[in-house]
Amino acid sequence: MDIKLANSAGFCFGVKRAVDTVYNEIKNGQKVYTYGPIIHNDEVVNDLKEKGVEVIRNIEELNNITEGTIIIRSHGVSKDIYDIIKNKGLKLVDATCPYVLKIHKAVKRQLEEGREIVIIGNESHPEVQGIKGWCNNKATVIETINEANDYHVSEGAKLCIVSQTTFNYKKFKDLVEIISKKGYDILVINTICNATEERQTEARELASQSDAMIVIGGKHSSNTQKLYEICKKECEDTYYIQTLSDLDLELFKSFRSVGITAGASTPNNIIKEVQIACQK
Ligand code: F3S
Repeated sequence: MDIKLANSAGFCFGVKRAVDTVYNEIKNGQKVYTYGPIIHNDEVVNDLKEKGVEVIRNIEELNNITEGTIIIRSHGVSKDIYDIIKNKGLKLVDATCPYVLKIHKAVKRQLEEGREIVIIGNESHPEVQGIKGWCNNKATVIETINEANDYHVSEGAKLCIVSQTTFNYKKFKDLVEIISKKGYDILVINTICNATEERQTEARELASQSDAMIVIGGKHSSNTQKLYEICKKECEDTYYIQTLSDLDLELFKSFRSVGITAGASTPNNIIKEVQIACQK
């Protein structure tokens, strides 16, 4: 069997940086909290839990903390979370991905300059929630063709369109095209991260050349779900797994070529394990 692992499989730069930040902070000996799980990966989150790192799930839990270090994960958070941490005198370590910070700055500035903000993305995703919090929660979030078709603002309105970093590039272009035809003054800032684009393009190519495709990543990881969608379109036998234990190796014996890719928050050791098991 021919096994090909995508070069871009696994941790992106922003996630690696955030995870490394937590492991470094543990060494300082202070109590460490992350605002939300540091990545969508149960194995890493459980390992950190064993090392004493606690996950804060919401503002109420944050309000109950009296000392320690709060780490903001790569998805970023809204401005009010920074304010609460500072006002409480807690140590803040910001591991927001620089690409997400750029979006925060852009939407804040464009809102101040009178543009309505449109975020192409998934409304419930923490990154999108964070971005909304940098433009007074005034942004409209658009994820589907129907939502783009239904979107209307007053005539002469000026818009600024940004994207969730992990959004599918082709879908982003399609949605922007629909909104562009409505005659508004539009500033489009393509904030899709290259890491995602490269991973998606490579996954599409690999899936189109493979008999079967394995996509590895956490159940709740939106970028892994998107990778799966892309691969499934190209290759009917695409399997979404979290770890090696989800894989039915017997099934794979009938395939001649298998491609492997993984979401941005999948640790390297899990990817390697799957690759080695397929090679046996
Ligand atoms: Fe950052 Fe891109 Fe990763 S935005 S967190 S490097 S997917």
